[in-house]
Amino acid sequence: MENVKKHLEDVNFENKKALVRVDLNVPFDSKGNIADETRIQACIPTVKYILKRGGSVVLISHLGRPKGQKDPSLSLEIMAKRLSELLERDVKFVADSVGAQVQQSKQALNPGEVLLLENLRFYEAEECPEKDPSYAQQLVQYCDLFVNDAFSTSHRKHSSITQVAQLLHPNTCMGLSMAKEEQFLKEVLIHPKKPFIPIIGGAKISSKIGVIKTLLDKADALIIGGAMAHTFLKVMGNKIGSSMNEAEYEPVAAELIELCKNKKISLILPVDLVVAPDLKNVDKAQIASINSIPDNFMGVDVGPETLKHYEDALKRAQTVFWNGPLGVTEVSEFSKGTERMAQILAGLQITTLVGGGDSVAALKKLGLSEKMTYIATGGGASLEYIELGTLPGVEAIANKK
Ligand code: 3PG
Repeated sequence: MENVKKHLEDVNFENKKALVRVDLNVPFDSKGNIADETRIQACIPTVKYILKRGGSVVLISHLGRPKGQKDPSLSLEIMAKRLSELLERDVKFVADSVGAQVQQSKQALNPGEVLLLENLRFYEAEECPEKDPSYAQQLVQYCDLFVNDAFSTSHRKHSSITQVAQLLHPNTCMGLSMAKEEQFLKEVLIHPKKPFIPIIGGAKISSKIGVIKTLLDKADALIIGGAMAHTFLKVMGNKIGSSMNEAEYEPVAAELIELCKNKKISLILPVDLVVAPDLKNVDKAQIASINSIPDNFMGVDVGPETLKHYEDALKRAQTVFWNGPLGVTEVSEFSKGTERMAQILAGLQITTLVGGGDSVAALKKLGLSEKMTYIATGGGASLEYIELGTLPGVEAIANKK
């Protein structure tokens, strides 16, 4: 059975109320201001499209992980103001996602109007639909259509992603941002222009085994950085001092090393690291080659020789996919490697696809986002999409032929 993904253009919105799932899960600064509004901006074209064609929009999203509890610090109310500015029209807000007041507001919605509901995760049934199937039923009440424009949350089998799509099926489709992201990931990663070099960083191999294995089917070389590199280095016989590593995943690291050998893919690991006794003693940080890391020192970033190796390899690439930081980016002194990688990629005239909070944050901090070919809105969702070739949220809105 073939899955046909419906797009906005396939749907008639005139006089219809569209329930639109967006991802307003944005970061905030220490003063409680929105620190990065990429995700808010991403949903604007879809909302405008529906309004222009005579429809009305009920926006739903989560913010943070309140685990079924009402948490005023995670209210979506603050978003209504920004959405109103971006859409150049009043966005009404109701401080709940279900209940009498919400249903009245939905009923009263006229074509051209937008309503934003409160954080869905204030209800446990959002993340655990089986605990209360009536939650999804209440979400779809008075809505004619479901539009999913939250690619970055579509790896979650949540009420607002999969259940509402099933309830309103076949009146479901992908929003513009979601469709673009899905199409881009597919084109770039299924038929990458070669040589194709993925760069995978971050703390843990355990969270990225599947995606690394999938990428190895297409890759010509694989760059590994971040704390996950320590486990590879240890398996290869290096002393890694007190560096973070995943002892139980050493067999997996050994398997991936073997896989690269068999497929003749060069595995590019750090040759030197910035090491420190801990994350606080920044002034005691030093550069150590990977076979001379002092016992009580830990790797906190990639070193200058490593960055040269990475850069040399990347000069041969035509396509790069980058996910995950190369050092401890929470500490600015240890984010230099990640920032240097952002600069290296910005200087290359090739296809660059970046996904994942810290790698994207480094690009933004340096004002280099525009230099990338594509920045995925979601880290976890793009990794799962690459690994499995689809997502629960994509499947739920597709029509089976
Ligand atoms: C994200 O930020 O990756 C998405 O909004 C999903 O959030 P979650 O990991 O809390 O489900």
